[in-house]
Amino acid sequence: MAVHLYKKITFSLAYQRYMIPFSNEVMNLIFSYVKEKTKGQSLDMALDVGCGTGRYTLPLAPHFKKVLGIDISESQINVAKQYNTARNVSYMVAPAEKLHMKNDSVDLVNAGLAAHWFAINKFGSEAVRVLKTNGCLALHGFYPATEIKYKDLSHDLNKAMSEMWDTLFQHLYALKLPSASDHMFTQYQNIYEAIPLTDKEWITDIPVKIPMSLPEIIGFIQSFCPFQILLQNDVKKAEQFLIQTEKRFRDILGEEADVAQLNAFIKHYCVLACKH
Ligand SMILES: C[S@@+](CC[C@H](N)C(=O)[O-])C[C@H]1O[C@@H](n2cnc3c(N)ncnc32)[C@H](O)[C@@H]1O
Repeated sequence: MAVHLYKKITFSLAYQRYMIPFSNEVMNLIFSYVKEKTKGQSLDMALDVGCGTGRYTLPLAPHFKKVLGIDISESQINVAKQYNTARNVSYMVAPAEKLHMKNDSVDLVNAGLAAHWFAINKFGSEAVRVLKTNGCLALHGFYPATEIKYKDLSHDLNKAMSEMWDTLFQHLYALKLPSASDHMFTQYQNIYEAIPLTDKEWITDIPVKIPMSLPEIIGFIQSFCPFQILLQNDVKKAEQFLIQTEKRFRDILGEEADVAQLNAFIKHYCVLACKH
């Protein structure tokens, strides 16, 4: 399974460094939803499942008395612990499909960019089991395509970007490897349908703007699982792919390649549900 990639410390450090930051837009949606549904109940516990290096765990800290981040990968959890800045946040290695929490004990079960890796039916019933009445579930991610805007070079940059994604996914399809990207391309439609709660919402196409330099874009590509799958299966092809991608962007940006602040637009989506 591609998920074994996350067990490498080199990947976890690259992930922490280059994965795009958490989305305020998505977090605000989640916090308003929790506020509306929990109706002033005390917010004692949030669980961040598949927390990785803690990208979405730390922003939960000011809103809940305690936050626990769990992940199946020890190296992700080690990096998360290393970067932990909140006293009410803790981390442990544990799977999404068997949650070590009591029944009716959690106010929010969150999973950022992770639910596409879970055995979703097992995770869904576990999430419902641990949620309190009025407790909420939030599953979210981003669409694997990026629109770039920069001066009058946007058209060429976007062409390069979309060809980059196409090439990357073609390599993956050619290798016939299992991939969770179908869930991402459908913005979690099947995951939304699989959640065993009736009070649920599916929000798609949430626009998120991220300023990025060229090295950050190249880093982001490397922190993205499909690239790592290619790297693990064909190092030469992966290296060539990265060199060619960077060259293509450099050719377009010319002398500005090292200083340009580009604007990346990455669509996010979110499944929200509430237990009654
Ligand atoms: C793309 S990362 C997302 C990490 C983090 N939530 C974020 O938004 O940056 C996906 C994470 O899900 C974890 N994961 C995959 N399958 C899992 C499972 N069955 N149980 C727990 N964690 C899992 C991986 O180890 C990885 O850290």
